[in-house]
Amino acid sequence: MGYETLLYEIRAGIAYVTINRPQKLNALNRRAIQELTDCFERVAKAPEAGAVILTGAGEKAFVAGADISELAALTPTGARETALRGQALMDSIEHLGKPVVAAVNGFALGGGCELALACTLRIASVNALFGQPEVKLGIIPGYAGTQRLPRLVGKGRALEIILSGEPISAEEAWRIGLANQVVSLPELIPTAEKAIRKILANGPLAVRYALEAVNRGIEMTEADGEQLEANLFGLCCATADMKEGTRAFLEKRPAKFKGE
Ligand code: COA
Repeated sequence: MGYETLLYEIRAGIAYVTINRPQKLNALNRRAIQELTDCFERVAKAPEAGAVILTGAGEKAFVAGADISELAALTPTGARETALRGQALMDSIEHLGKPVVAAVNGFALGGGCELALACTLRIASVNALFGQPEVKLGIIPGYAGTQRLPRLVGKGRALEIILSGEPISAEEAWRIGLANQVVSLPELIPTAEKAIRKILANGPLAVRYALEAVNRGIEMTEADGEQLEANLFGLCCATADMKEGTRAFLEKRPAKFKGE
């Protein structure tokens, strides 16, 4: 299937998903949400894609938010459906089972910030700006920003960002733990690729279970999260990768993981 709002390709084990509406600063219209949902379903089923780099076309924006021309015409029930569809997409990214790196190459506002929040890591270029400006439009974040932002940066900082509606720089985003790294724009994709290669060198099932332990566990009580961790730790010990990883260490050689 060809996409109207996305570019999608798999190269050397990495799926590259690029939101491609640069003339609208990659704002997420209904079509883009549908196509992203479809695309991440495809990535989930593609054994040749071990990880994803998600970025925006052009040099100005990652995603400048939900498409305001569509928002302006929403009815209350339509708005609720829109929020639920967007939230489902964000959840599918968070629970993809493969690392997703947001390469934030400019504005990450509103739905763009929420999209980056759903990713495993956020690597920003120096020109990136993060923010939740919804209150300036008389609405609140609707793609789970009120839930993921406080979990990532703490309630106090999240409230400051959400209630002021003011954007923060890439440097500030790094300082508060919203961005994992800040690099120059030309270095952005190579840095994301390097981060992914480091992860993909590890046991694939261990990476998957670690993602699950953190992403599911954070929704649970600590005791339930520990139970989940113990179960997944046990599951790791049933894998050939675990036998190979521990044997390779003892034999002082690099491990050759098969994802089995
Ligand atoms: N929805 C729809 N269109 C958007 C958009 C959005 N979220 N963000 C930008 N655009 C469009 C603009 O309307 C403009 O279209 P036009 O050329 O047809 O008029 C085009 O993208 C370029 O944006 P422009 O505002 O001219 O660029 P700028 O560099 O002057 O300003 C921003 C950049 C990001 C500061 C500004 O576009 C902005 O504030 N966007 C909205 C951000 C927002 O509130 N997002 C949350 C939505 S819930």
